[in-house]
Amino acid sequence: MGSFYRDGGAPAIMRAAHFPDELLSYLQMEGLAALESATRHRCDSLVEHGCYDGRALEVARAAGLPYLGIDISPGAIAALAHRVGAEGLNGQARALVGDILHNGSWVTEVVGRRPLQLLPFNLLGNFAEPEKVLASIAAVGGVGVISVFNEQPWTHEVRRAYYTACGIERLDETAGEYGGVVFRGDGGFASQSFSEEGLLRLLGTVDATVLNRTGNRLGQCVTVRLGSRLDTDPED
Ligand SMILES: C[S@@+](CC[C@H](N)C(=O)[O-])C[C@H]1O[C@@H](n2cnc3c(N)ncnc32)[C@H](O)[C@@H]1O
Repeated sequence: MGSFYRDGGAPAIMRAAHFPDELLSYLQMEGLAALESATRHRCDSLVEHGCYDGRALEVARAAGLPYLGIDISPGAIAALAHRVGAEGLNGQARALVGDILHNGSWVTEVVGRRPLQLLPFNLLGNFAEPEKVLASIAAVGGVGVISVFNEQPWTHEVRRAYYTACGIERLDETAGEYGGVVFRGDGGFASQSFSEEGLLRLLGTVDATVLNRTGNRLGQCVTVRLGSRLDTDPED
């Protein structure tokens, strides 16, 4: 599923003008879930994977945490770095070109003993082998907040409208491996959703302990303790 974003698909899929109105409550839910998890689990930095324009920079700002945005798209990272400078946040926020699958390219930039790693906006669904994504972030550790679309029929409709508005042609729907639906389209685009059971099954493939779950009509956010970077926290 990797070629779409390497070939410049990010500005199409991440442009807010392409988002159906129904998506906004889902995005708001994931921001609030990240803020709540960062506070509850006393995270000391926020890493947003697939950050594009750095939506979760506002979460980090609200929580008073250093922010690292990582994206495979150099154009997105250049724009985010410009925004960080323009907002006077140099020193508190950074933007980095990196691939979530290859943590060697970004792990040394992660600060803190208890980073919150956010996988926003169904990023996990873009990978043919999502277990490799989870293994990569679990090896880095901290707290993970994973936000994905659910398997409900109305969510398929909103996703179809969204991907169509992004200009993705010849959309094809099939059943996914984790209880959801895979949309495939031109340019190598592919994105799958997840049922609750499917996401928990996927999380069972790595060193991750579920701490909290929340959801709304379109999606779910799961907070997990990842791997072994952390000191043990009795409140987790
Ligand atoms: C957050 S995902 C959005 C997925 C979309 N909402 C969907 O339903 O499939 C898209 C962002 O992730 C980034 N991205 C894609 N693959 C990546 C990778 N391997 N590592 C880091 N960022 C990646 C893209 O450049 C883009 O900015």
